[in-house]
Order: sequence, then C-alpha cells, then structure tokens
Amino acid sequence: MRKVLIVFGTRPEAIKMCPLVIEMKNRAAFHTIVCVTGQHKEMLNQVMEAFNILPDYDLNIMKQNQTLFDITVNILESIKAVLEKERPDLVLVHGDTSTTFVAALACFYLQIPVGHVEAGLRTYNIHSPYPEEFNRQAVGIISQYNFAPTQLAKANLIREGKDESTIFVTGNSVIDAMRYTVRSDFTHPELEWVGEKKLIFITAHRRENLGEPMRHMFRAIRRVLEEHLDCKAIYPIHMNPIVREVAEAELGGCDRIHIIDPIGVLDCHNFEARSYLCLTDSGGIQEECPSFGVPVLVMRDTTERPEGVDAGTLKLVGTDEETIYESFKLLLEDQEEYKRMSNACNPYGDGNTCKRIADVLEFGEYEPWNG
Ligand code: UD1
Ligand code: UDP
Repeated sequence: MRKVLIVFGTRPEAIKMCPLVIEMKNRAAFHTIVCVTGQHKEMLNQVMEAFNILPDYDLNIMKQNQTLFDITVNILESIKAVLEKERPDLVLVHGDTSTTFVAALACFYLQIPVGHVEAGLRTYNIHSPYPEEFNRQAVGIISQYNFAPTQLAKANLIREGKDESTIFVTGNSVIDAMRYTVRSDFTHPELEWVGEKKLIFITAHRRENLGEPMRHMFRAIRRVLEEHLDCKAIYPIHMNPIVREVAEAELGGCDRIHIIDPIGVLDCHNFEARSYLCLTDSGGIQEECPSFGVPVLVMRDTTERPEGVDAGTLKLVGTDEETIYESFKLLLEDQEEYKRMSNACNPYGDGNTCKRIADVLEFGEYEPWNG
C-alpha cells in the first residue's frame, strides 16, 4: 500500500484538496494521511467542516498579521517531524501558497517525492501575484508529478523543460468541489436581502493589493454602487486585519453593501451562482464564476488563468480607480457588453479531476482532460 501524505493550509487549497482526500481515502491502494499547516485557522476550519474531514496532523502555525518569514520558518520547522515520523512514499501539495512551497521544500530536503496539484499556472511576473508566482515555479522545480489543470498549464511546464512524462492534464479539482456545493434550491438570508436587485459579489485579499491599490478598488466600487440603485453588493471579507481596515474605511456606511464574515464554501459557490457580476482579485473565483456564466472583473494586473479571459468571461481591470469604475459601470449599462461576457464556459474541468489524479497514482495511466 502506498503511503500518501496530503498537505494544505489555506482556504483555497482546502477547497481543492478535500475532494482529493475523499477520493484517495476511498481507494484501498493508498494509506492517505492529511496534514494541515493551519496557515489559515477559521477559514480553513470552515472548509474542513464542510467536507467533514479531520486532519491527522495540524501544525497550527497561524499568527495574526503573520509575515512570509513567520509562515515559512514555522511550517518548515514543524513539518519536519511529521515527514520524519511518517516517511510517506509521496507528498501531495496544491497550488502556490507559502504552505505549498514550504512543504515541498521540506520534502526536497528529506528527499521525499512530491506531487503538485494545480501545476503550471504562470504569469511569468515574479511580483504578481506575490509571492505566489515564485512559490509555484519553485514547486515546479521540485515535483515529480505535475497535475496540470489545462493544456495551457501543461504547455508552460513543457516550455520550462519539464519532462512530459511527469505531466498529467487533469482539470481543476475546484470543479469537483462544486459537485458537493452547488444546489438549485439554495436559500440564504443575505440573498433575501438582495431580493430582485442585481447581486454584485466582491472579494479581495491579495498581498500585492494591500494598502493603496485596495483603497482604489473599493472607491471605484462605492462610486458605482451609489449611482446604481438597482444593485446590492455582498462582500464576504477576508480575515486579514489589513483588508478589514481599508474596507471599513472605504465601504463602511453604504447601505447597499453588506460586508460579512467569510462564508462557508457551500454558501460562497451558491452566492456566485446567483450573482449578476463579480469583482475580485481571487484566483479560485476566476475558475468558478465562468461555469455559472457570471462575468468577473479581475482587479489585478496579471492573471495565471488566461482560459477564462480567452473565453470572454474574465476581464483584467487592474487596480486603477477610474478603470475599475468605467468597466463596472459598462457592465451595468451596456447589455450587449454584459451578454458578451456572460457566456457560461468551463475550461477548468468536468468534475473528474480527483479521479484522474488517483488513477495516475494507482495505475500509472488515466483519461486526460482535454480542456
Ligand atoms: C494566503 C496565501 C494566498 C492565498 C490566500 C487565500 C500565502 C503567502 N498567501 O494569503 O496565496 O491566495 O491565502 O485566502 O501563502 N487570518 C485569520 N484567520 C484565517 C485566515 C487568515 O485571522 O482563518 C488573518 C491572519 O491575521 C493572517 C492574515 O489573515 O495573518 C493573512 O493570512 P495569510 O495566510 O498570511 O495570507 P493571505 O492573504 O490569507
Ligand atoms: N470562498 C469561500 N468563502 C468566502 C470567500 C471565498 O468559501 O467568504 C471560496 C471561493 O469560492 C473559492 C476560494 O474560497 O473557492 C477562493 O479563496 P481565496 O480567494 O481566499 O484564495 P485564492 O483562490 O485567491 O488563492
């Protein structure tokens, strides 16, 4: 039996790795162990509860206002003991967070093979997103298995000289997660508050946007909402105190914006499905909204998810106040433009990503995703 340790630590990694934990635990070929770093605390626990998964190890490293140094040092030191005790045959990490990078680095130091889920996403700008672009490129140097969500991600890895036999195009497991969460009969008091108005869904958290860029984003959003009485906005706010401070200063007191605590993943996916439009700097939300045909204004200068831009559902609007203001207004006032962006498309998978990953690990072969 192959011993596989699955490591994750933040909300988005958990959303995308919990379906894989379930798939792996259902297969007798694997002894599956789950280690969470606890880089996030409350936001991670929300996801673990939604999927009903209890970790075997919780490194519990989160501190308020943690720096990249805090996260890196604390995970590196504490994961060593878990890896030495368990000596897994393989460690699976996800994406591009500090948890991902540091867990892979620890495996490299102990010469334990690594599988990288959601491999090959790139902007090729080391500062955007920061520090994620570095993290995923670094993990790409270390990993023996590369589970690329799309052909485009595979092409990036090939261009960087990765051996093709280590790359498997599987789709993105976020689509597997949505099989558990999306419900046609979903109701919620916040959606009742929105009623017949257009729901504008907002999230923001990126490190490179903290401070002035975020201030500009929020100012633009407020101006548009104050001019358009047919809209109401819901903003489930990230727990980062720096984000909270700016949001309160710029959006507080506007009675058509509800700033609420982070919502569970089930609520989040169903809120997205009911939205008219989403404004975000999140990575995962850029993958989810296209399958609902919900246009996304991406408040970032770069994206590692060009598939959604090519399909027309995502538009990169940066963090300049006037650009966000004009792009947001256009989608409320120009129906043709809105229709052009609201075509549902699903470049990121068919919900069988975890099966493909487990097939690769169990049988050495799989049915590739052709998106
Ligand atoms: C992290 C990841 C980012 C990912 C994001 C998803 C890194 C460097 N960044 O960024 O790639 O897109 O998660 O959300 O790995 N906090 C809480 N409770 C929580 C979670 C966070 O209080 O459950 C607060 C803490 O004060 C913490 C701060 O938020 O210091 C920031 O968390 P951190 O993980 O350092 O960075 P994120 O911006 O969440
Ligand atoms: N999400 C959630 N609750 C929220 C906000 C987001 O469950 O209040 C989900 C969202 O559906 C997506 C993921 O969290 O699956 C995205 O996480 P985040 O934006 O924090 O990180 P990123 O994807 O940018 O790394």
